[in-house]
Amino acid sequence: MPALKCTILALETSCDETSAAVVADGYRVKSNIISSQVPTHQKFGGVVPEIASRKHLENITVVIQRAMDAAGVTFGDLDAIAVTYGPGLVGALLVGVSAAKAMAYALRVPLLGVHHLVGHIYANFLEDPGLTPPLVCLVVSGGHTSILYMAGHGEMRVMGRTRDDAAGEAFDKVARAMGLGYPGGPAVEKLALEGNPLAIDFPRAWLEEDSLDFSFSGLKSAVLNLLNRACQAGEELNLADVAAGFQQAVVEVLVEKTVRAARQVNAPRIILAGGVAANNSLRRLLTARAGQEGLAVGYPSPILCTDNAAMIACAGYFKYLKGEYASLDLNAVPNLPLEVL
Ligand code: KG4
Ligand code: ZN
Repeated sequence: MPALKCTILALETSCDETSAAVVADGYRVKSNIISSQVPTHQKFGGVVPEIASRKHLENITVVIQRAMDAAGVTFGDLDAIAVTYGPGLVGALLVGVSAAKAMAYALRVPLLGVHHLVGHIYANFLEDPGLTPPLVCLVVSGGHTSILYMAGHGEMRVMGRTRDDAAGEAFDKVARAMGLGYPGGPAVEKLALEGNPLAIDFPRAWLEEDSLDFSFSGLKSAVLNLLNRACQAGEELNLADVAAGFQQAVVEVLVEKTVRAARQVNAPRIILAGGVAANNSLRRLLTARAGQEGLAVGYPSPILCTDNAAMIACAGYFKYLKGEYASLDLNAVPNLPLEVL
């Protein structure tokens, strides 16, 4: 695809980060401001949607201005506005979508509506602009866990998905039960470093022999039952072993099915995307296992794995190249399906 000179301002407000980024020519991140609401939601043990929308509303103009200042560009320099329009929390998405529409209208530049998960995938292209499809992508976030086949830009096919909890959701729920707070993934990973992943043999849901789908609810229940039983019996559990065993069970299934998917479609490379892609145990095991099969592995740096607007700008750039502009009646779609990727 030919490179095109353009400067995109992108907004991401689908969950609990208010983010704005300026990205030039698809890949050059001139600024990527992320205002996290984690401290606000921490005391509730998870994201409170109504509070998230209000915080986005308070933050959005400040974050946009900070992104513009840090990039050293003016509004007149912008060629397009990209925004996440789904999936996510409806009130949270609406803040970004409304701001983006107002700016596109006022500046008379194209509006680019981006699927949040496509944004996560494109974080890989920010990290490695030389990356080219075909690729198999494992998207693992707080809301989604899917294996996708990317034949080309804008050509994606779902190969497998979770039938119940997302991997990140399982991390968050297990962390909450262990009293580790929110967000759970980084806390479980940290505690797991001190534990033995083989000490407790948690169940792995492989499902039907040829299935690339996932299921994490059984594993989550196994951890919660173990914790409850120990609590009722007054027994001391080694929580680090619980964290390590749980993480190992999640990671093994994610890795094995992703490698199987890549072999199935003969893709030479696997990429990781989404918040759980920041997990070092997942990165290590996938790299080792894929290496045995002669497959390359790529993943974004941790800050580009979790929600940020730079990834939305990069995904928006490929829509810009194709002239796939959104109209000004673009709406937030909280349950935007994977099929519209
Ligand atoms: O992609 P993301 O920032 O937001 C969504 O789109 O959901 O992902 C957030 C999820 C949370 O569930 C969080 O616990 C998980 O990613 N996460 C991790 C790690 N860092 C974030 N899970 C495991 N290990 C990590 N290091
Ligand atoms: Zn996300």
